[in-house]
Amino acid sequence: MNLIKKLLVAPATVLALWAVTAQATTDDAIAERLKPVGQVCVMGEECKGVGAVAATTGGGARTADDIIAKHCSACHTPGILGAPKIGDTAAWKERADHQGGLDGILAKAISGINAMPPKGTCADCSDDELREAIQKMSGL
Ligand code: HEC
Repeated sequence: MNLIKKLLVAPATVLALWAVTAQATTDDAIAERLKPVGQVCVMGEECKGVGAVAATTGGGARTADDIIAKHCSACHTPGILGAPKIGDTAAWKERADHQGGLDGILAKAISGINAMPPKGTCADCSDDELREAIQKMSGL
């Protein structure tokens, strides 16, 4: 083997060894990164990470305040895009009067109206939950 080949083989061997060990150490890191982001929680079974949330809502059921904080307040606190502001009862009442009462604006909240997305982005909210959230925001 001439000198040039020897010079090339040595680093190539080192490089190959390094590649193998590097792969071994990153497999764990890759597995960690591939872990699912969320978990499906089945009712009745213990669910990691949800305990804290359940504790603040008094054991499972979410309150109107939870729904408002999570889904409605982003638009209805600042009143962006013409959204009636939380606590501005007059603005909500005027809408309710136009739509035939609370049920009327509830129906609009469910279907969506102009810039207001259907169910105000709370896709899994029941009609009753939305009604409570609206009552709380409007004071009606
Ligand atoms: C992306 C912003 C946005 C979010 C999130 C949002 N809203 Fe709205 N909402 C609006 C806007 C804008 C209007 C006014 C629409 C219009 O009349 O043009 C509105 C109007 C309403 C109305 C009055 C409908 C009517 O008939 O006049 C109700 C009721 C309502 N929202 C309930 C909710 C509830 C409950 C939530 C949370 C579950 C929610 N909104 C979340 C933007 C939002």
